[in-house]
Amino acid sequence: MTNIAFNKSRDLFERARKVIPGGVNSPVRYFKPYPFFVESANGSKLFTNDGNVLIDYCLGYGSAFLGHANPKIGAEVKHQIDKGNLFCTPTEKEIQLAETCTKIIPCAEMVRITNTGAEATMHAIRLARAFTNKTKLIKFEGGYHGAFDYVLNKAGSGAATKDYTDGILTESASKTITVPFNDIESIETIISKEENRDDIACIIVEPVLANTGLILPEKEYLNNLRSITKENNIILIFDEVVTGFRLALGGASEFFGIKPDIATFAKALGNGYPISLIAGKREIMSGFAPSGLVYQASTFAGNPISVAAALKTLEILINEKNTIYPKVAITCDKLVAAIKDIIHDKRLDVTLNSIGSMFQLFFSSIPVRDYDSVKSTNIQSFNKLFKVLLEENIFIPPSPFETCFISTLHNEEDIEKTIDAYETALSMVMKS
Ligand SMILES: Cc1ncc(COP(=O)(O)O)c(C=O)c1O
Repeated sequence: MTNIAFNKSRDLFERARKVIPGGVNSPVRYFKPYPFFVESANGSKLFTNDGNVLIDYCLGYGSAFLGHANPKIGAEVKHQIDKGNLFCTPTEKEIQLAETCTKIIPCAEMVRITNTGAEATMHAIRLARAFTNKTKLIKFEGGYHGAFDYVLNKAGSGAATKDYTDGILTESASKTITVPFNDIESIETIISKEENRDDIACIIVEPVLANTGLILPEKEYLNNLRSITKENNIILIFDEVVTGFRLALGGASEFFGIKPDIATFAKALGNGYPISLIAGKREIMSGFAPSGLVYQASTFAGNPISVAAALKTLEILINEKNTIYPKVAITCDKLVAAIKDIIHDKRLDVTLNSIGSMFQLFFSSIPVRDYDSVKSTNIQSFNKLFKVLLEENIFIPPSPFETCFISTLHNEEDIEKTIDAYETALSMVMKS
């Protein structure tokens, strides 16, 4: 498969396929001919079962913002393990976490702690329906909010690679309207239709699309979304599962200066530990049971281990925000600028999108600004780029429908090696 050997991974995948559907526990982890298996991770590196050391730009799909196996977070978790890992009674640390979030997340007057991104977005949507007493939702083509019925229409991430609609209730999917990103007129048209006018409960949006490659909101787009939703009594949900605590301490909401009604967070919140949350206005959030009638519940919600990890993560981000956010942006800019130089020198039809600590490259001569433009890029060339980068010990997510991430622990040596690898990979892609 590559210059570096993944023989042990190949054997492990053969074993996995016999007992795990498709050999993986989440479809994005599969790529042809087989994925590599990881034994451990540290900082910016993954250590595979084959003995390879890879510089990681996938980072648990954006989760490990403070680097893999961050020792400060690990120490806090170990300390909590000795004190017990699941009580299913309230704990003081949950209050601390919620209080901290209300200070840093612009829309957070109240917070409900959940486990996964999908759980957070699913309950945010239910909450919006209950609050508005309306049924429909608008999402964006290429937007990914988790693997559940309401939001898989034209979804991004792994769901963009095939027509994954089996088993989805058409009745629930029919309540979801998808629109192209960066096109405010299409939303105005949808909202003004007779059958929708009084029935759109919410618009859910990744403020920066990070599951259909990386697509930035054009000037005033999010502002316009905010105005339209306010004018039409529609709840605006920012799905900040990727952007939260990464783009800025207060997420995309702080970065762009726009306050949604509800926002959902996961990934960087626990630096890789399973935790997510829903934040929003008090009058809306009070709808959750037991204070309201929107039933949201989970055995593992607010478990002490994940809460300890999140509290430590946020403590680090709060204390070091003046260095962390500029540093990751500078690191990302340096890498992106160098790749752009290579593209320019080699006169390649390649486009690069980036913001903060995120970037993605597309084989396209036109700007990539929505789902259709990502679909029209050369995916075969991207797959080739992925393979050659892997041969050079660089791991990026294995699809153009994903985003590359930088952690606070990617250092100059990593970046230099990555620039060289992109130079080699781009030359080989163009030759093929
Ligand atoms: C923006 C966004 N929302 C929601 C989700 C779903 O999160 P999870 O995989 O934790 O259910 C993801 C996952 O990648 C995501 O990127």
